[in-house]
Amino acid sequence: PAAAAATARAQAQELGAQPTAAPSSGYAVAVLGASGGIGQPLSLLLKLTPGVRELRLYDVAPTAGVAADLSHIATPARVSAHSGPDALADALYGADLVVIPAGVPRKPGMTRDDLFNINAGIVRTLVEGVARFCPRAWLAIISNPVNSTVPIAAEVLKRAGAFNPGRLFGVTTLDVLRANTFAAEVLGLDPEAVSVPVIGGHAGATILPVLSAASPPVQLPDDRARALMARIQDAGTEVVKAKAGAGSATLSMAAAAARFAASCLRAMGGDSNVVECAYVASSLVSGLPYFASPLRLGPAGIAEFLPLPPMNGVERENLEAMRGELDASIKKGVDFVANPP
Ligand code: NAI
Repeated sequence: PAAAAATARAQAQELGAQPTAAPSSGYAVAVLGASGGIGQPLSLLLKLTPGVRELRLYDVAPTAGVAADLSHIATPARVSAHSGPDALADALYGADLVVIPAGVPRKPGMTRDDLFNINAGIVRTLVEGVARFCPRAWLAIISNPVNSTVPIAAEVLKRAGAFNPGRLFGVTTLDVLRANTFAAEVLGLDPEAVSVPVIGGHAGATILPVLSAASPPVQLPDDRARALMARIQDAGTEVVKAKAGAGSATLSMAAAAARFAASCLRAMGGDSNVVECAYVASSLVSGLPYFASPLRLGPAGIAEFLPLPPMNGVERENLEAMRGELDASIKKGVDFVANPP
């Protein structure tokens, strides 16, 4: 079998395929909330991601079925199932990357902040586990409201003496995918050829796609640029309405989180060319203590804060206008940990 595998690898290389990581190398990735609407397709995509050695699926709901199902896919990642609070330690122990899509999603008429009361406590508990069992892991938070759950995670990690601001990320990649897709539609281009930086936060007006700094440039009359921006900001609600009570974006979110996770793993592995927008702790960029902006990732986490993209007048106004809302969401998260309800 070893000779056959070597021949197959040689053939794949001849065909120009990337050799995948050998089963003994790669990283351990834990998905917390793995049985959910996002968790399942995200786990599927991670099972297909090069560089994943172990895929640990954790949820308060059963995970055995999803794990058994995914384990039959012929990729190196070894899948394990962990259900219920007693299994959290095993899911997290020594993990390199922890992705958290646990929590309730929106229903029509709800804002992301309406989820705070339930999801704040879920994120706090899970991050307490991260601080205890894998304090050096990179942590990617999907659970909404991201503008508050990332500060919650940071406060929990600080209290445990395990806070590394270069390794804590709020996942805003879906805003980037939406901006790229919708801008490409307007420009008549392939979405994969379009790149729009999205800064700020991950809720309503705090989502600021900087269309004027897109590559290739998105040059539109003011009214069309405003309409495009509004569509990007409301895109999550578009999905919530279409699902009519059955939840929010799950499949596109899974694709976004899988892209972000793959970027993290590539950076961990030494690729120095990885740039993603994410919502992180730093007042360097905007003056606010948390902000989403383009980052260069490196083996130890954030390697460089790239400068904010140049903005036109309307975009600068929007940046100023969002500050109050973002600041309030950050304070709400910090306060939740300082003065638990
Ligand atoms: P879902 O309800 O389908 O799945 C959530 C999963 O979390 C369930 O399997 C549930 O059992 C699990 N869960 C609940 N409490 C838990 C705990 N204490 N520990 C572990 N697992 C727990 O929800 P869905 O659609 O997957 O959304 C998850 C979250 O992602 C929501 O908060 C949603 O708002 C957010 N979201 C974030 C986006 C972003 O761009 N950052 C985009 C879309 C959704």
